[in-house]
Amino acid sequence: MHYSRVSIPPSQSYSAPTAVLLNELLKGSISLAIAFTRIDRSTSYTSDTPQPGLTTGRFWNPSKVLLRIRRLGREVFSPDCWKLSIPAILYVIQNNLQYVAATNLEAATFQVSYQMKILTTAAFSVLLLRKQLSASQWLALFFLAIGVGIVQIQTGAGDTSKAASSLLFAGTSMNALKGFLAVVAACFTSGLAGVYFEMVLKNSQADLWIRNVQLSAFSLLPALVPIIMSRPADSGFISSLFENFGAWAWATVAIQVFGGLVTAMVIKYSDNILKGFATSLSIVISFLASVALFDFQITFTFILGSVVVLIATWLYNTPGRSSNSVRLGFA
Ligand code: C5P
Repeated sequence: MHYSRVSIPPSQSYSAPTAVLLNELLKGSISLAIAFTRIDRSTSYTSDTPQPGLTTGRFWNPSKVLLRIRRLGREVFSPDCWKLSIPAILYVIQNNLQYVAATNLEAATFQVSYQMKILTTAAFSVLLLRKQLSASQWLALFFLAIGVGIVQIQTGAGDTSKAASSLLFAGTSMNALKGFLAVVAACFTSGLAGVYFEMVLKNSQADLWIRNVQLSAFSLLPALVPIIMSRPADSGFISSLFENFGAWAWATVAIQVFGGLVTAMVIKYSDNILKGFATSLSIVISFLASVALFDFQITFTFILGSVVVLIATWLYNTPGRSSNSVRLGFA
């Protein structure tokens, strides 16, 4: 994302709000397709048992397809669908803030400061989901944020950031204060949106993919706002949307779409706090993969950061925590 924003002069950069809108359109379409194939298995507010007409006969039988579409419509427009409007608006704000932060901060600085979302997520989980965290678990989360921060500093300083910044366009100006304020705001919206989505998902029976469709649908309007506000008066609306929208922009959108769908599954099958551990461990593992694949050097900073991450993971899961706390179950 950082590279796609800063490797070209600002006058030739693509529109970040267009990228956010495309992200939602693609995620919504993929989720709708998955929901369509699963609708006969989903038991939600409309019915607790699979519909008889849906479970028999061929999948593409026209009357069955029609039944599926009607049921899908009922599920997506269920009376409680409006609950998704809150995380939808928050995620759109967060996704736009990420672009502001990644444009104005070095890639490593952005990633390090973005780890503060581990703590905001834990705070919102305690406030909204009534999760109980012991003192040692809070300490573990604090270590986790610090540890992954150390790994990121060294990853950035050692390789990616240096390589990327040597390619930076000289005229690209970064505003560190603007970038830092954006990252702080993104940490709060990330924590609140994730925990709110988890609350809606776990307090009802609706299928995850139906919830994702609702989330994307409610995101469309707020995602359109910055696009309409910055609409150029002199050129065509659609052509201005896709101005300079090249391969790097599409790659950034693709990563965001894939990441979003995986995030939804992680929130469903575990929770937002464990998502923080999963991403932190994945950062350590992906650096090790880079050592094997791209001749990256293992440095003392990497070992230090990784050890802190592993100690944090162990500490979070050691007995002696309160009984209501979550378990780190990989099974
Ligand atoms: O940084 P963080 O982990 O909070 O980012 C979560 C990302 O996952 C956001 O970009 C959000 O749009 C996406 N997401 C999603 N569908 C969900 C939950 C989150 O696309 N159900």
